[in-house]
Amino acid sequence: MAGEKSAPKIVGLTPDRRQSFYGRDIVSVKQFSRDDLTYIFGVADEMRSIVKRVGATDLLKGYVLANLFYEPSTRTSSSFIAAMQRLGGSVIPIHGVQYSSVSKGESLPDTIRTLECYADVIVLRHPEVGASEVAARYASKPVISAGDGVGEHPTQGLLDIYTIYTELGTIDGLHVAMVGDLKNGRTVHSLARLLCLYDTKMTFVSPEILRLPPALKEELIQAGRPIAETARVEDVIETVDVLYVTRVQKERFADLREYEAVKGYYEITPALMERAKERMALMHPLPRVGEIHYDVDDDPRAAYFRQVENGLYIRMALLAAVLGKV
Ligand code: CP
Repeated sequence: MAGEKSAPKIVGLTPDRRQSFYGRDIVSVKQFSRDDLTYIFGVADEMRSIVKRVGATDLLKGYVLANLFYEPSTRTSSSFIAAMQRLGGSVIPIHGVQYSSVSKGESLPDTIRTLECYADVIVLRHPEVGASEVAARYASKPVISAGDGVGEHPTQGLLDIYTIYTELGTIDGLHVAMVGDLKNGRTVHSLARLLCLYDTKMTFVSPEILRLPPALKEELIQAGRPIAETARVEDVIETVDVLYVTRVQKERFADLREYEAVKGYYEITPALMERAKERMALMHPLPRVGEIHYDVDDDPRAAYFRQVENGLYIRMALLAAVLGKV
């Protein structure tokens, strides 16, 4: 472990919150309580304030992050790098298996055991569901999932629900519709679980072949959520507070003819947005490939680039929390 843990505190961790974050892996949103979210939102607010006022802090000076990506990424990878650098730490970036010894056949456990000899925290994106949990079992340092196949994307879920809170000032009482590839969209899987911590109504909008996985549906029902499903975004556009649109994930289809049949199913246009509430948030985890027209971007309700920015603050908060600095 690098350095002494004597950097200035930003927010005092209560013993309960310390248990939730300090030294912990972040592999699923199922591990979080509503109090955990309230806490991490507060730290993210402070990180935003630091970045806006002075750009950076030395809270994690001397600490090293290993940023290990077995799948492509723009936002998650670069925001974790930016988060670590703005906290004064440094990063070992490992992008693409072709540039690491994974290309020689090295296993995930050996890769993780190696990286934790150099780093204090490991961020992992991997195409297999459960890979982050496997990595966490082998690592003595905290492992943070950056998305595991079609499983979960917990840090995206956290930044998404933080964005809902910052855009609309509340989460309780909202109607959230999730649109698109609900079967393969790991961001949806994380966000839907987090929304169960609040008094929210959820509607799932997708063509039949892209419906939520049955096991997740069952989980939401067990959590007391009625599952409302439709194929038509027109059914919800006038009532939703949050329209969370996702890309149809071409890379998850075994049969590309099935992808071709559904890839252009939803297009959010200015004409459609005219029917939406005056106060609502249009969100997307990005990248988008046609689901939201570019001429919607100037609509004040289009929150997706503010959502991207919030990813920086949430990831700064998480890095500081797992390393015991807040
Ligand atoms: N939202 C998201 O995970 O984007 P990237 O794939 O670019 O990291």
